[in-house]
Amino acid sequence: MTDQRLLHGQWSSRLAFILAASGSAIGLGNIWKFPYLLGENGGGAFVLVYLACVVGIGLPIMMAETMLGRRGRQSPINTMAALAEEAGVHRAWRYVGWLGVAAGFLILSYYSVIAGWSMAYIFKMGGGFLNNVTPQMAQQTFQDIKAAPDVQLVWHTAFMAATVLIVSKGVSQGLERVARLMMPGLFLMLLALDIYAAGTSGFSQGMSFLFKPEFSKLTGESLLVAMGQAFFSLGLGMGSIMVYGSYLPDHVSIGRSSIFVATADTLVALMAGVAIFPVVFSNQLAPGMGPGLIFESLPLAFGHMPGGSLFGTLFFILVFFAAITSAIALIEPAVAWLSENRSLSRVRASIYAGFACWFLGLGTLISFSHGASVTWFGKTLFELVDFITADLMLPAGGILIAVFAGWIVKKQESAQELELGSYFCYWRILIRYVAPLSVFIIFAHAMGLL
Ligand code: PFF
Repeated sequence: MTDQRLLHGQWSSRLAFILAASGSAIGLGNIWKFPYLLGENGGGAFVLVYLACVVGIGLPIMMAETMLGRRGRQSPINTMAALAEEAGVHRAWRYVGWLGVAAGFLILSYYSVIAGWSMAYIFKMGGGFLNNVTPQMAQQTFQDIKAAPDVQLVWHTAFMAATVLIVSKGVSQGLERVARLMMPGLFLMLLALDIYAAGTSGFSQGMSFLFKPEFSKLTGESLLVAMGQAFFSLGLGMGSIMVYGSYLPDHVSIGRSSIFVATADTLVALMAGVAIFPVVFSNQLAPGMGPGLIFESLPLAFGHMPGGSLFGTLFFILVFFAAITSAIALIEPAVAWLSENRSLSRVRASIYAGFACWFLGLGTLISFSHGASVTWFGKTLFELVDFITADLMLPAGGILIAVFAGWIVKKQESAQELELGSYFCYWRILIRYVAPLSVFIIFAHAMGLL
């Protein structure tokens, strides 16, 4: 085990870790998923519950997960096994790592399909096909892509291939470089979109939809969805931040880095909301239209602003980068485990894991067209995989991580790792009681038990 820990790569600096962790957090979850979920779940009240989940559940779990990773310095499965052994508790704790690897696979399988849509939009925008579009044309363009599994297959394949290529290059070479470029660019582009949105006729309606809570619109399921989205967006509960933490040098403050990453992630999601909803209301689109929301609304903004096709192309390129830095995090736990335990080279491990995700993704891909009528519990395959992973597996993984970090890791050890000073006691209350209980209550409420 000691050898393994020594061989394990490390980030070159604190900035490198922050960039990579934000790269994992900021992705399609912020730009594509958060807006459409809040559109489907009634707006302001959803945003409020989401924010409460980020602060009360997500942030403490992010610190816990990073801490466990740095203590274990291996893939999540081996880290959990090693830490359980060290603490003298049951070996079954390593299944937390397995749960994460499985969730990562399943999420990446559909994530890649959606990322493929944004790649297709790079070319739609760049080719000027969306200049001066009407809402009907924008909707038609998206429906055409959704109805063409062959086109989606090309992009899904291209996205997985790009992910495998970057992951196979290893920790600092591949992962750091991509993250460093993308983040500032994405931020600036969203700022430009927000400024544009502020000048549209639907701005005030968009703002009150986003920020005026109407609690009557919240159901048990939408509470669950808001919590699941907090896990998804911060990239928690599946060991990917654990694996990033495992590459973290000892002197970096986990507390401060986590606060930075969670704030950046939340800001980007809110900025995406501010960019999208005014455009939705200005063009009489339906906020609850589902996964097509950004693809049908943003082209309307770009299509009517000066230099729009250039900005639009750049925007979707940035979305692609945001997606790929998250995809890397989703596959990393599996790749780390394959290369540690099956003595595969990183290149081989990445190819095997990537191929498996690609294959699983074919199911999601079909579920948007020919397979749309095949449903389980009223959900298409995409919706089902999304629900099981984001709303069940990630929060379940999160509870287990919280319990392990709060109840099993010794108090002095976590105090030393986190360096939160006098705030440590708040973290401990959140991680021991607030986070596990809230997840549990939201689960129970959604199942109709409360
Ligand atoms: N946080 C990413 C997003 O918002 O798009 C998705 C994600 C990455 C989820 C890494 C889970 C994860 F471990």
